[in-house]
Amino acid sequence: MKPAATHGGPLFRVHYALEDLFFRARDWISPPARKLDEIGIRESWSVLDYGCGLGSYTFAAASLVGEKGRVFAADVNPARLRHVQTVAVRQGLRNVETILTDCDTGLEGESVDAVLLYDVYHGLEYPEQVLSELFRVLKPGGLLSFSDHHLQKEQVEPCLTAEGKFRLLAKGTQTYIFTRAEGARGKPAAALRTQH
Ligand SMILES: C[S@@+](CC[C@H](N)C(=O)[O-])C[C@H]1O[C@@H](n2cnc3c(N)ncnc32)[C@H](O)[C@@H]1O
Repeated sequence: MKPAATHGGPLFRVHYALEDLFFRARDWISPPARKLDEIGIRESWSVLDYGCGLGSYTFAAASLVGEKGRVFAADVNPARLRHVQTVAVRQGLRNVETILTDCDTGLEGESVDAVLLYDVYHGLEYPEQVLSELFRVLKPGGLLSFSDHHLQKEQVEPCLTAEGKFRLLAKGTQTYIFTRAEGARGKPAAALRTQH
């Protein structure tokens, strides 16, 4: 899969302007740091913000992981990543790195402590491939923090666990926290599902 090339037409620009307004209002009403509290991100962690958009959660995570940590902001839309780079420079955040992708991140396997997947899943063309990639880069015991207001509550766990790669660890007030279902390779999903 390759990142889509057409993000610059007039309709896209109107769509993005409206989306920007929506996210700025959302962040004002519900500060990103509050959502990240549910994960317990620590200093020096490596975090992947997949589908970072304007980087609301990228910047909040960058201040939590500190100078020794790293936040990878991945998105399919180059304009979003340019925005993230500009703000990171303006805020003096040297621990933020952008990745242009629609699936493969190019990150090392089992290298990331936490993945943020917020408001992205519903729009994915190939969700299984993206979840496989997130599974690949997440360390054993690493956390996948998930929210998507486009999904019904009862859809969340089945969507994330269907392939047997992740299991639900905890439900917060704003997010669901999944972790790798260890031993997932080659085992049927039903055998991996655990009660919570
Ligand atoms: C609704 S926005 C959410 C942005 C951010 N996570 C937030 O909550 O503020 C969804 C983002 O996912 C990105 N996206 C959609 N499909 C993607 C894919 N296959 N790979 C990477 N990013 C994708 C979009 O470009 C957009 O920036």
